Amino acid sequence: MCGIVGYVGAGAGMDVVLEGLRRLEYRGYDSAGVAVLSDDGVLQVERRAGKLANLEKVLGDRPLAGSLAIGHTRWATHGPPTDRNAHPQVDCGNRVAVVHNGTIENFEALVAGLEARGHERRSDTDTEVVAHLVEERYDGDLAAAVRGVCRDLEGSFVLVVAHADEPDLVIGARRNLPLVIGLGEGENFLGSDVTAFIGHTREARIVDQDQVVELRRGGVTVTDLDGTVVDGESFHVDWDTAAAEKGGYEFFMLKEIQEQPDAVRDTIGGRLTAEGLLHLDELAMSDEDIRGIEQVVIIACGSSYHSGLVGRYAIERWCRLPVHVEMASEFRYRDPVVGRNTLVVAISQSGETADTLEALRHARAQKAWVLAVTNTVGSTVSRESDAALYTRSGPEVAVASTKAVIAQLAAMYLVGLYLAQVRGTRDPDEVRAHLRDLQSIPDLVTEVLSRMEPVRALAGELADAPRVLFLGRHVGYPMALEGALKLKELAYISAEGFPAGEIKHGPIALIEEGTPVVVLAARHALSAKLVNNVQEVRARGARTIVIATDGDESVTPYADNIIRIPDTKSLLTPLLTIVPMQVLSAAVAMAKGLDVDQPRNLAKSVTVE
Ligand code: M6R
Repeated sequence: MCGIVGYVGAGAGMDVVLEGLRRLEYRGYDSAGVAVLSDDGVLQVERRAGKLANLEKVLGDRPLAGSLAIGHTRWATHGPPTDRNAHPQVDCGNRVAVVHNGTIENFEALVAGLEARGHERRSDTDTEVVAHLVEERYDGDLAAAVRGVCRDLEGSFVLVVAHADEPDLVIGARRNLPLVIGLGEGENFLGSDVTAFIGHTREARIVDQDQVVELRRGGVTVTDLDGTVVDGESFHVDWDTAAAEKGGYEFFMLKEIQEQPDAVRDTIGGRLTAEGLLHLDELAMSDEDIRGIEQVVIIACGSSYHSGLVGRYAIERWCRLPVHVEMASEFRYRDPVVGRNTLVVAISQSGETADTLEALRHARAQKAWVLAVTNTVGSTVSRESDAALYTRSGPEVAVASTKAVIAQLAAMYLVGLYLAQVRGTRDPDEVRAHLRDLQSIPDLVTEVLSRMEPVRALAGELADAPRVLFLGRHVGYPMALEGALKLKELAYISAEGFPAGEIKHGPIALIEEGTPVVVLAARHALSAKLVNNVQEVRARGARTIVIATDGDESVTPYADNIIRIPDTKSLLTPLLTIVPMQVLSAAVAMAKGLDVDQPRNLAKSVTVE
């Protein structure tokens, strides 16, 4: 949570930093701010509550000149989202400016000490203490001052610091949260992720745990907290600027929904052998280790958790292994039974979700083998896992996840098939056949996307619904959960997903005349039972919107609206049913005039527990 940018170079610092903040705004949008160092050594700070647009408006009228700048877009933790709590935070003399992502857990003790030593607090943030602590420690060596402060801090943080006396130096530091260096020519960058500087350079280096970066125009030095220089590898970012821009769409999410055929294609692509089987070298497990697995545990949050639920059906079916899917935020509290023969799969688009990270750390401490399924190369989840299987959906900017989730689904099918292939629970011909089915999915997703006009037309009718229910059986159940989550987070409608068979045990009491119920009735062996469930809810006044397979007329008499998807194997239907639910949620949000990319109270990467 929170997006951070730092820049030192020859360009207009304010513009570079604002461009980075625009790309990082998905990480939080409670307030935004910049500090720009003028050529005559004045640290000019501007910050505003609310979205970045508020700040941009002020800076449009009063631009800040200077070629060294830092900036921040906030998801509030300590203190409400007001101007005074926006970052950058400054010290008593306005000579130190700090932007911060994370939570400083010992900040109250630090505040007490600072106040006793005469510092005046001007915000409710934990961040401000860092500015005062740097002020106290600074004696001409900003890097040393920040290193000293970091040693005193407890909790998680990314800090980027500028000082009025340092016209060629921006300092970055991190613990537990991500910070990436962008390496340019005569200019260098810091960002919460590579999108912060992708318009300027695609050469990047990850900052590791408890490292401090000295960013100058002529180069970059990274040290540990003792000041010892540490080497590190740079990497080339494949994404280009177009991937991180709207490309003519009104919202990123609309573009990302359309990119889903490629997200699936790219995630599968390059992972097949000439014989039509799978090679997942990324798994980094020997065949013997794979054959020794006794259970699979999947940990994830939100939509990634729903991908994990689908993965369970695939792995259990194909591999005959017990699979448990756990919400990462609850995993460690149960004292879960995992060990050396457990494969833990941590699914996370961002690779930075604090709950997932803590869960995987717990699993590793129990000696489990941890595989990350993530969209973010070099993310903390990938680096702390034994191996990483990257989904290849490109940068996802909209807070509500779409193309990353469909890529996770594809990745989970790959994991299931690979385990089956190596363990011999499915013969090679069957694995090949399933892979061929998977390879046909991108074209089918394109087909689904071409049929979405009637779905958009439903939006106006659903916009005023106080509640919407989603029902599914088998793999339709996790997708019911996903459909409900999308509608909740985008359209602020109370939406719940249920196993269709479960509603008669209670939730059916929610149904009133006209209650919209979305039923995921794509072809599978249980569709006869689903038809019964549709009848049950309709008999009680529900307005039924049914997602059904082409040619399946069994449900037609009981559907007020039918959304058709092409036929595919029942286990793979989530890759198709997910699309209309995304389109519907976005359309309802638009009908209500809401911000589709940045729903209220949310942030894309949830780096607090
Ligand atoms: O980056 P992650 O996949 O770990 O994020 C997990 C959830 O926070 C995320 O899926 C969230 O539920 C999205 N807002 C869903 O659209």
